[in-house]
Amino acid sequence: MVKKITTTTIQKIKDNNQRFSMLTAYDYSTAKYIDEAGIDVILVGDSLAMTALGYETTHSVGVEEMKIFTKAVAKGVKHAMVVTDMPFMSYHIDIADAVKNCGEMIKIGANAVKIEGANDYIFTLIRRLVGSGIPVMGHVGFTPQFLNTIGGYNIQGKNFENTEKILAQAVELEKAGVFAIVLEMVPEESAKYIGDNLKVPVISCGAGRYCTGQVMVCDDLFGKFSEFKPKFARRYGDMKSLILECASKFNEDVKSGNYPNDDEVFNLSGDELEKFLSETKFTKTSGDKLC
Ligand code: KIV
Repeated sequence: MVKKITTTTIQKIKDNNQRFSMLTAYDYSTAKYIDEAGIDVILVGDSLAMTALGYETTHSVGVEEMKIFTKAVAKGVKHAMVVTDMPFMSYHIDIADAVKNCGEMIKIGANAVKIEGANDYIFTLIRRLVGSGIPVMGHVGFTPQFLNTIGGYNIQGKNFENTEKILAQAVELEKAGVFAIVLEMVPEESAKYIGDNLKVPVISCGAGRYCTGQVMVCDDLFGKFSEFKPKFARRYGDMKSLILECASKFNEDVKSGNYPNDDEVFNLSGDELEKFLSETKFTKTSGDKLC
């Protein structure tokens, strides 16, 4: 029996000064393999707006789309904790609407939700969600859903004053009940200071080496998304080249008649084949091929 990662496991990892891994996944088979590889947390990130749906920012994805991807990922996962990113405007209208949308994700297989930002409304929402049995992961530092108000992909916490502000937000998130916090694009010294002053684990997304968790977008890790590569992303493969190579070879093989071959077709046999050959204009030319 595979042991499922829970919020308790995640907290124990921080308490024991260990580390955990988190990767995004958007479809069934990728989630299945990532889970088999032993990744602890799988995030159905709203980054799928860009990597899977081709939008320019994360703003364009909605609840219904996130539900489709969440269902697929949850089906593939046995061990990891599945966290769904709540998309832009799915938790901002009012608390009732937000609780309903977050609850939908849990109903279809997510184990927790992630929401961006830290203000009084968000703290109230987190209390309501946790009080309803929905674990919440926070997200501060650079928050992509606030791209237009932040004014670009800017590093956050670049000085002590700003770092204190992020820490104050994180402390309020912790008080409201989050079980972990993603810290995005923050210098590692600032991230260490923030993490050391929190009880819950901090997950680095470009926040350096001193955090309890490390998260990466799977398309960056696989070398599949090629439009840009954030400084903190590490490409462990070259899936773009692999896809190009496979698709080009298939294209050539189809056009040259090399695909399908004898082993890749269904054949009639015995009397049925004889009857078919005598009653149709097809003739057998080579192997089992009919031309
Ligand atoms: O959407 C996403 O993939 C994320 C992670 C990179 C933290 O929010």
